[in-house]
Amino acid sequence: MTDLSPEDIAKNAAAEAAVALVEDGMRLGLGTGSTAAFMVRRLAERVQAEGLALRCAATSQQTADLAEAQGLRIETLDEIAWLDLTLDGADEIDPDLNLIKGGGGALLREKIVARASDRMVVMADGSKVVETLGAFHLPVEVIGFGWQSTKALIQRTLDRQELEHRPILLRQRDDQPFITDEGNLILDLALEEIHDAARLAAALNAIPGVVENGLFLKMCGLAIIGRPDGSVVELTAEGSAEAEA
Ligand code: A5P
Repeated sequence: MTDLSPEDIAKNAAAEAAVALVEDGMRLGLGTGSTAAFMVRRLAERVQAEGLALRCAATSQQTADLAEAQGLRIETLDEIAWLDLTLDGADEIDPDLNLIKGGGGALLREKIVARASDRMVVMADGSKVVETLGAFHLPVEVIGFGWQSTKALIQRTLDRQELEHRPILLRQRDDQPFITDEGNLILDLALEEIHDAARLAAALNAIPGVVENGLFLKMCGLAIIGRPDGSVVELTAEGSAEAEA
């Protein structure tokens, strides 16, 4: 591979190291985003070179399309039912490996797939590692029906939790509301710092029009961080199986 930017070298290195965790016979969840796209390509190369027998479910139509174009067979999560390992990217990773995800709008399927996995490993470049979650906008997937009322209730939740924020934005693509794979909308919450992510996640998901939020808490045991020189560092969450291994 030539002509990769330093950021892409880092993403690819993380993806390659994550793909090295894949073993013959595994049931895999394939994440979404630019880092996950490197992972899909590296995985397809391994499958072709080593003849691995894998069962794969994708976290988005975008990933399913890419995987199939690379020669990987994609099944639905219902066909596979439970996964051994999910490999996905992230928008922010804190020291406990809590995450913000959903920059690509796939947070709902990503969370369902990650929760249906024995293990979630995140791949990222170093820019995603933060001390406190919140600088990246927090995506919240909401039902189209009554979304403005849902937005008002989210606003009230943020105010009650005394969270500094800018106006809540309806995500757009090509000047139209962005529609998720599940036919929903995304509201982006421009916060500053999220000090009690569990409290915020619970309050958001308690609002009737909210389908899911982009906080992935205590779900990831290992984060593989790529560097622009092609090396990687591994971060483990305290108390996780990975940290105790
Ligand atoms: C997709 O909805 C997201 O959760 C991605 O995993 C996240 O945005 C990371 O994407 P990149 O790898 O493109 O930064």
